[in-house]
Amino acid sequence: MLKDNFGREITYLRFSITQRCNFRCVYCHSYNNMSSEPSLDDISFIVNVFSSLGFKKIRITGGEPLVRNDIVDIVRVVKQAKFDEVVMTTNGYRLHQVARDLKAAGLDRINISIDSLNRSTFLSITSLDKFDDVYKGLLEAISVGFNPVKINTVLLRGINESDILPLVEMTKDNNLIVRFIELMPVKGNSFFDEHFLSYRDAIKIIESKYKLEKHPTPWHEVASYYKINGFKGLIGFITSVSQHFCGSCNRLRLTSTFKIFPCLFSSEYVSIKDAVLYRDEKLLKDLIMESVNIKPPAHGEIKIGTKEFIENMQELGG
Ligand code: 5AD
Ligand code: SF4
Repeated sequence: MLKDNFGREITYLRFSITQRCNFRCVYCHSYNNMSSEPSLDDISFIVNVFSSLGFKKIRITGGEPLVRNDIVDIVRVVKQAKFDEVVMTTNGYRLHQVARDLKAAGLDRINISIDSLNRSTFLSITSLDKFDDVYKGLLEAISVGFNPVKINTVLLRGINESDILPLVEMTKDNNLIVRFIELMPVKGNSFFDEHFLSYRDAIKIIESKYKLEKHPTPWHEVASYYKINGFKGLIGFITSVSQHFCGSCNRLRLTSTFKIFPCLFSSEYVSIKDAVLYRDEKLLKDLIMESVNIKPPAHGEIKIGTKEFIENMQELGG
């Protein structure tokens, strides 16, 4: 198992398998970048090396991972690498078609990004009128047995406050985990200063109607969890901005262009392109260890007018 210079065990890989995305979310500066993507065989080589270094969990992200036609084969190949958990984050647009196959291929859990339950708000955030498909995908994911399904909702002041209570109410009869994520600043858009809504504000909105009870959070989960008495599911808050969780960070991020970013806020990265091209296992192991070694202790303070921003969210996949 790899440990960084601050005693953190690094066991979680977030692997962006494509930069392509069919959505254009307002807060995710997207370049519609048609850069090359790792082949199925590249992915197999890479994930097996990470697994051999003690990585226990892998998240398949994008861009939007379901834009890849070979996504089911990708899951199958990743599953063969013997991680404890293979999970995915998707915008859900094609989930209703592939949820069953993803489950059969060995995907353990799924997170779906849904910022609004209102069709026109959904359209204004994502620029695509795909709410009905995404909702169908959510129901299909539940029905093929993903449990619990997580919903990720980015909190957006002036845009989706009125969705907070309806989203919370989805946890009443379903074993869902709805997680509200604080907006993070992304380079190239001024969205953050105008639309940041803190988790405390979201809690106030929820507590105008329901009493939230603290719920234990599994170690290394970045969300803090709450429950409403009598509701089946859970509500979580990812407080990346108000309270960072760098002290328990256990992750590396790998982009589809073969760059390992030690932190979401890093501009520094380690390229593993040659190691992958030449299938050089020793070199790849060394580069992964180097990435762990340059992990910063924490990112800087994020505030309005901040200088801390994420260079390219679509490349990093959140
Ligand atoms: N701030 C917070 N979350 C973001 N995501 C994308 N961009 C941002 C941002 N600027 C979220 C997506 C998805 C996850 C992969 O990251 O909505 O839920
Ligand atoms: Fe696509 Fe996700 Fe960015 Fe939205 S946030 S544009 S779904 S990559």
